[in-house]
Formats: sequence, C-alpha cells, structure tokens
Amino acid sequence: MTGEKIVELRSVRRSIAVPDGRTLLDAALDQGIAYPHGCRSGRCASGKSRLIAGEVDFLDHTRIAVSDEEKTRGFILACRTWPRTELTVTWLGGEDGGDDMFVTLEETRLRSACSSADHFTSTIQSGAQP
Ligand code: FES
Repeated sequence: MTGEKIVELRSVRRSIAVPDGRTLLDAALDQGIAYPHGCRSGRCASGKSRLIAGEVDFLDHTRIAVSDEEKTRGFILACRTWPRTELTVTWLGGEDGGDDMFVTLEETRLRSACSSADHFTSTIQSGAQP
C-alpha cells in the first residue's frame, strides 16, 4: 500500500498530496500546478524552493543546483525531493517573497578565460567556448 504526504505550496496557496516515491515536482505537475522547473534532474536549480516546515529526502543532484550550505538554510530542489513528512514549501520568486536568498551585487567586470566546462548542464556547455 502506498502512502502520501500533504504538501502546502504557499506560492499558489494550495495543498497537494505527494504519493510516496514521487518527487514534489512530479506530484505538483500531475495536479496541474505550474511549478517552476527545467532539467528535472537536479542540475539547473530552476525549482529551487524554500522548505518552511517538514523533512525531506534528497535524491541525487549537483551542488551547483543546491549546495550543502543552502540545504542547511532550508533550500530544496522540487525535482529531487521526496517528502518524508507533511511539508510547507514556497518556490523562489513567488508572491510571498520566497526569494530572499538572492542578493544584489555591485557589477564588477573581470577579465577571464574558460579552460574547461565539464560539470555543467548541456545547455551551459553548448554555450561555452573552451
Ligand atoms: S528542474 Fe533543474 S534542478 Fe530541478
């Protein structure tokens, strides 16, 4: 018998049931919610979200998409998250201000060259000119 966890999505003011073994992103998309996403494999950070309450299990992902330090601050990837308990989540950039991890930096121009591009998504690699 399969269980499920209830997840409150503050960004759309809805709660959804996430069946055990389904990611938060897949369950949201299944239920018609336009959850932000890109690669769906833990590489691009498009579905980076703030975990307000609850516990999750992380599936494989790159540290580029979410670092260990970010995880300790409550950031998750919807595409790589299995809810372990009921959750409250908001995706970044939502109406409720869930994007407080971003800061504005003063523009600085640096002269540089790319010598390799091995650990990036295929989209980024295709734009790189090593
Ligand atoms: S959709 Fe790319 S990291 Fe989740």
